Amino acid sequence: MAGRWVKLELDLKTFDATRFEAYIERCRTTGIRLTTLAELGDSPGHRRALYELNKECSADIPERGEFYTFEEYLERRIEVPSYDPRGVVIALGDDGWCGLAATSDHRSSGFVFNEMTGVRAAYRGRGISMAMKTVGIRFADLCGVDRIRTLHHPANTAAIEMNRRLGYADAEWD
Ligand SMILES: CC(C)(COP(=O)(O)OP(=O)(O)OC[C@H]1O[C@@H](n2cnc3c(N)ncnc32)[C@H](O)[C@@H]1OP(=O)(O)O)[C@@H](O)C(=O)NCCC(=O)NCCS
Repeated sequence: MAGRWVKLELDLKTFDATRFEAYIERCRTTGIRLTTLAELGDSPGHRRALYELNKECSADIPERGEFYTFEEYLERRIEVPSYDPRGVVIALGDDGWCGLAATSDHRSSGFVFNEMTGVRAAYRGRGISMAMKTVGIRFADLCGVDRIRTLHHPANTAAIEMNRRLGYADAEWD
């Protein structure tokens, strides 16, 4: 990979969610419903739908390479102790699932981790990722931590800028 991974962290002690509520309201008024996998039901069918959406969106991550098979996805992302369907925010559009923001539980290390944020191409540029990530911050509260971490390929300008807009700052960890 060219360059180093960009490590970002959001400090919830200084995060003001009210600044981003307009994104949630915009989803509501434009027919985008925000929910979680826990609310929808963490069923085999919904896990498959999550996989398909994650796979579709991941095709636009620079140098992502071939995505996991469904079995690999289950093994690496779902059937792990850090997985919690309450941390998986889903955006529902007219024609089905249009976005996901999946955050995993690393409370024993003092943070939660944004595993993947993705919005289907036809739905991008409408603030849906900002809305999903703002809703997703509740998961950090549930886990009792005040830090959210994420990691991006340096060429992934859209994702890096989206996180910076929310207040994520450069961070260092091993
Ligand atoms: C990154 C991604 C989730 C952004 O979703 P989105 O819903 O289109 O983003 P939003 O409309 O909420 O944009 C929020 C902010 O992100 C930044 N942003 C979004 N797309 C951008 C782009 N193409 N270039 C630069 N900045 C961009 C902007 O700062 C934007 O705020 P603004 O519109 O007020 O300027 C989407 O592009 C995507 O799914 N990409 C492929 C998957 C991926 O790379 N995920 C991240 C790895 S986990």
